[in-house]
Amino acid sequence: MSTLKLALALAASVAVAAAALAQSPNLGKPITEADIKAWDIEAAPSGRGLPPGKGTVADGAKVYADKCAACHKPDLTGGGAPGAGTLIGGQPLSNGIETPKTIANFYGHSTTLFDFIRRAMPFQAPRTLTSDEVYAVTAFILARNKIIPDSAVMNAETLPKVKMPNADNFIIKFPDRI
Ligand code: HEC
Repeated sequence: MSTLKLALALAASVAVAAAALAQSPNLGKPITEADIKAWDIEAAPSGRGLPPGKGTVADGAKVYADKCAACHKPDLTGGGAPGAGTLIGGQPLSNGIETPKTIANFYGHSTTLFDFIRRAMPFQAPRTLTSDEVYAVTAFILARNKIIPDSAVMNAETLPKVKMPNADNFIIKFPDRI
């Protein structure tokens, strides 16, 4: 191919590519700060990222009855829907590695419970709970597991102070990051 022909061929293919781009189905769009904010909801063990709001155990009982009990059962023992496990109890992990891992015997931090519920529950409608509802239902589950008293109120200050029963058995690899 002569240089001229090559140049013409290249110019033509650039024009074709530009035309194709102009007619593209416009897949994807720039992500906005608001889009990111909706997913930037990590609640760290230190309390960093916990939203304003609060909830009592009694409020949580109502949220639970309305929005959780169908799948996790009114007594929290789970099994109302496939995969919806128990939210209560649990044997000591010293019984062996096969011991079922539950909130009470395995979650290292109370904030993890809040974080998981906020981002993933109710299973069929995640991220629909208000912050007050998440605090309340977290309080309810912690109280039913006898980790906090029935009179406790959970908010951004009190929740990170709740010590989970198995907290001391975790090895934190990067303590300065949490
Ligand atoms: C439609 C059924 C359904 C509803 C309603 C539902 N869940 Fe779940 N839940 C599930 C399933 C399924 C899983 C397991 C999810 C997984 O493994 O990814 C789960 C897991 C969980 C876990 C993690 C348990 C663990 O051992 O780590 C928590 C905590 C939880 N749900 C709390 C709630 C709360 C609180 C509500 C009400 C606001 C709720 N769920 C409503 C189905 C449901």
